[in-house]
Amino acid sequence: MAKGLNHFQAFSPIYKYHLLLRYGVLLTKLDERIGKFGCNSYLEIGCGTGNTIIYLRKKGLVDRITGLDINPIRVEITKKRLRWHKVKYCELLIEDFNHFLPSNQFDFIYSLAAFEAINPKKQSMKKLLEIASPRCQIILDMANPGFIRHKAKYISKDNILMMENVFRDNDFIVSKEYYSFFSPIDIFGITKNIKQLHKTIRLIAIRQ
Ligand SMILES: C[S@@+](CC[C@H](N)C(=O)[O-])C[C@H]1O[C@@H](n2cnc3c(N)ncnc32)[C@H](O)[C@@H]1O
Repeated sequence: MAKGLNHFQAFSPIYKYHLLLRYGVLLTKLDERIGKFGCNSYLEIGCGTGNTIIYLRKKGLVDRITGLDINPIRVEITKKRLRWHKVKYCELLIEDFNHFLPSNQFDFIYSLAAFEAINPKKQSMKKLLEIASPRCQIILDMANPGFIRHKAKYISKDNILMMENVFRDNDFIVSKEYYSFFSPIDIFGITKNIKQLHKTIRLIAIRQ
């Protein structure tokens, strides 16, 4: 299972800036997409200690936010953080994604550093398709298996290929983007397509 933040890290100012550097660009691009696509019901798979949820709620882009995580301690920390940040109206669920049975479908589904560690992957893909509304955008930010120093054994190039094929077979338009620490300073986008340089792959699947 991929690691999340512990209690100290979730509140530490040093970690906050570390996260901003590492994930800031992902969040900025995410909220641009949500703004353009529109979104009534948003789900984050493996929401951990709530970084993305807090960010999006403060931006005010999404009406209904659901965060789901298998780890009850992280969900408890998220609840504390929501109170601390005075963030309201978020549904938080302690569940294994592969056994998730929501009462409604979602029109925007996001996962950051979590989906790649949820197994078996074919089952997770089946679940994603079940819970995606007919007009839906799915963004999965994962460890990039094409990265030159890729170490995360739980995700391979074949897994990514399988996921792309499943989406395409189910009428999604699929694309990929690559991100790393230096993405924000590469203003001309020179490195953007050199996947070996980037630690994060963003798999984007859109059905409209
Ligand atoms: C590396 S953390 C990322 C947390 C958060 N997305 C973030 O960026 O701060 C991965 C998260 O996925 C959760 N997770 C792992 N397997 C899961 C599963 N089967 N169902 C739901 N959540 C899961 C873990 O508990 C953990 O909080």
